[in-house]
Amino acid sequence: MHILITGAGGFVGAALVSRLLAGAGPAFTRLTLVDRQFSALPDDPRVTALAGDIADTGIWADALANGGADLVFHLASVPGGLAERDFDLGMAANLGGTLGLLDALRRQQSPARLVFASSVAVYGDPLPDQVDDATPARPGLSYGMQKLVGELLVTDYSRRGFIDGSSLRLPGIVARPPAPSGLISAFMSEVMWAARDHRPVCLPVSEQGVCWWMSVKASVDALLHAAALPGQGRVWLPPVLRLTLGELVAALTDRFGAFDVTYAPDPVVEAKFARQPPLIATAARAAGFRDDGDVAGLITAAVG
Ligand SMILES: NC(=O)c1ccc[n+]([C@@H]2O[C@H](COP(=O)([O-])OP(=O)(O)OC[C@H]3O[C@@H](n4cnc5c(N)ncnc54)[C@H](O)[C@@H]3O)[C@@H](O)[C@H]2O)c1
Repeated sequence: MHILITGAGGFVGAALVSRLLAGAGPAFTRLTLVDRQFSALPDDPRVTALAGDIADTGIWADALANGGADLVFHLASVPGGLAERDFDLGMAANLGGTLGLLDALRRQQSPARLVFASSVAVYGDPLPDQVDDATPARPGLSYGMQKLVGELLVTDYSRRGFIDGSSLRLPGIVARPPAPSGLISAFMSEVMWAARDHRPVCLPVSEQGVCWWMSVKASVDALLHAAALPGQGRVWLPPVLRLTLGELVAALTDRFGAFDVTYAPDPVVEAKFARQPPLIATAARAAGFRDDGDVAGLITAAVG
């Protein structure tokens, strides 16, 4: 089994690599990691790391050398804020990179299983009163459009038998290590690290603002679960926790003690990330996808 992970040096990718090397998911003999760069690499003879740009189609010849890939996690992506500021960059990585990968996979002998990290950004804003499996996608950012087109490509390439792929519409994932990320939703991780490290934090949303939450552990669980199911071009909307900032801050205070939180709502951030309606993930729940359970479980899985 040869597993290929794009975006393997990123927040979710690195967690996925660690879990696979620790024995979660399918057994494998080769693990190929692709990213622009890697800050640290696992010392494991099964691992090959390729530093390069997925917008450059030449990278796939190396990544898929010696028989192609059996399972691909396609996580490489320019984040939403950056893709909005730099249209060319977002299109090259998020659309060009996905198309280049799928076309390279199309040329290998047997169809690879593929899991594409899509995003709830495909829904745009304002969101309807409820988001569920029937909610139409109407992206409000170029990033959301790029993810939606990626899903359509994965579904069509699967229908044609070129791959056996599925897409996973991930929500904001916590807790990303504190560093500039280009993510508009960065406050969701910052509040968790501030609580754990007893630092003051100013949030660009209101205390009543309600968000969808998923830990990086739950996101890796979901990716591995999607990989274990037949792809068939499915688009999964995984279950999430829905909590207000006030509820999260109260639980963080219970866990780590009091910390200094101020709220300075930015209407744009509030509208995009803190007015999330109930998310009803009927199909994914029935297929065995799980959320973090409760707020205590979310905090443990996100920041320990
Ligand atoms: N983290 C979240 O909150 C969240 C939410 C919804 C969807 N997603 C999706 O999940 C996936 C993983 O997210 P993440 O948080 O790990 O993101 P990340 O930004 O931490 O990691 C993405 C990785 O992709 C790499 N990359 C970007 N452009 C590239 C290119 N042209 N060539 C090669 N590598 C490139 C980056 O270097 C980075 O290491 C992404 O596709 C993201 O869009 C994430």
